[in-house]
Amino acid sequence: MVKYEFPKNFYWGTATSSHQIEGGNIYNDWWEFENQGKVKDGQISGSACDSWNRYKEDFDLIQKLNNNAYRFSIEWSRIEPEEGKFNEEALNRYKDMIISLRKRNIEPFVTLHHFTNPLWIAKKGGWLNPETIEYYLRYVEKVVNEFKDLVKYYMTINEPNAYAFMAYLYGEFPPQEKSLKKMLKVLNHMVKAHAKAYKLIHDTRKDAEASIAYNVLLIEPLNPKSFIDRKIASFADRIYNRVFIETLITGKFSSPLLKENIPYAKDTLDYLGINYYTRILMGIKTFFNPLPNTSTDNERSDFGWEIHPEGFYKVVKRFWELTKKPIYITENGISDAKDERRPKYLISHLIALHKAIKEGVDVRGYFHWSLMDNFEWAEGFKQRFGLFETNFDTKERIWRKSAKLYSEIAKNNGITEEIGSLY
Ligand code: NOJ
Repeated sequence: MVKYEFPKNFYWGTATSSHQIEGGNIYNDWWEFENQGKVKDGQISGSACDSWNRYKEDFDLIQKLNNNAYRFSIEWSRIEPEEGKFNEEALNRYKDMIISLRKRNIEPFVTLHHFTNPLWIAKKGGWLNPETIEYYLRYVEKVVNEFKDLVKYYMTINEPNAYAFMAYLYGEFPPQEKSLKKMLKVLNHMVKAHAKAYKLIHDTRKDAEASIAYNVLLIEPLNPKSFIDRKIASFADRIYNRVFIETLITGKFSSPLLKENIPYAKDTLDYLGINYYTRILMGIKTFFNPLPNTSTDNERSDFGWEIHPEGFYKVVKRFWELTKKPIYITENGISDAKDERRPKYLISHLIALHKAIKEGVDVRGYFHWSLMDNFEWAEGFKQRFGLFETNFDTKERIWRKSAKLYSEIAKNNGITEEIGSLY
C-alpha cells in the first residue's frame, strides 16, 4: 500500500547541469578557472561523465528510474563560443537530446544558465557588466526560438543567489570577488535578465512555464538567545533567501545597499523552482564560514552539510505562503559516496514534502540532484551526489541502492508502507 501518495501527474525526475556532466567544452570561464589550478587538488572537469556523447545512455537510465521528467541545462558557451557566432551543431545536439527525451516520454525541464559563462562574456566583466543582460537575452532568444515546440518548462537562471554569493562574495567561484556591493549588483543584473527572458519565453510560446531554480537555505540563529546572532541570521536570510524572489513578485529590488524599482520584473514567476539541501546556523562565529555546519550533532553529508528534512518542510511552506505559485523541487540531494545516508535522506525529505502537500501546498514535481556523480565545481569529483555512481575512468554508471529505491518510489508515485518502514 502506498502510504505517502503524491499528486496525480506528479513529475519525478533528476537534475544535472551541462558543465558538470558533459565534458570537453573549452569555451567557458570554468574551463579556464580549472586550468589555472583553482579547483581543489588541481582537478579539472575534463571529460566529466562524457554525457555530451553518452546522453542516450543517460536517458535510458532515466527511463529505468521510471521517471517522467529530467532537468538539465543548455551551455551558453557551446551555443555561442565566440561573440555573435552561434554554433548550429551544438544547437542541434541539444535538440536531439530533447527529442530523445520526448521519445522516452520524459518531460524536459531546461535551465538556460547554470553557473558557467562563455569566456568572452567573462572577459567583458561577466555579470557585473550590465551589457551581459542583453548578451544573455540574445542567446536565450536563439534557444527558445529553436525549441519552441519542444520545450514547455524553463528555468532562466540556476541559483542566482548561490552564484552571486560564491562568485562575488565568498570568492570561491570565478571571478573570485569578495564584495557585498558587487554581489548585490550581480543579483540585480540577474533579476533584470530573468525578467526580460521571462517575457521573451512567453512571447515565443504562450503556454510556456518559466521560473528560476532558487537555492533556499533554512537560516537560523546559531544561538537563538543572542540578539546579535538573531540579527545576523535575519540579515543573511533577507539577502540570500528573499531579495531576489521578492523582486519577482513586487518589482522592487530592496537590498540593504541597493534599492531599485524594476516594474517589469513584477510577477515574472509561473512557478517556483526550489533547490533545498540543508540548514545553516548563522551567528558571529559562523559568519564567514556557514558551511559546513558543524554546530549541531545532527548527521551530516560527506560535504559536512547538516541533514535537516524539517527544514525542507519549513521552506516549502514558507515559499508557498510568499509566492502562492506552484512549486517544483528542482534540486534536493546529498553528497554521500558510500550511499549510506542517501536512502534515508531521500525518504525523509519526501515525507517532509508530502506533509506540506497534505497541508495544501501545490507541489508538482521533485528532481533529485543528481542522476549520477559529476563535477562538483570547486570541490571537483570528490563530492558525490549521484543516484548512480560514476566511474570516471571508464564512464560506467553503476546502480546505487538509492537509484533502485528512487525507481520504486517513482513507479508507485509515492512511498509504500514497506519502504517507509525500512528507513
Ligand atoms: C546546486 C547547484 O545547482 C549544483 O550545480 C550543485 O552541484 C549542487 N547544488 C550541489 O552542490
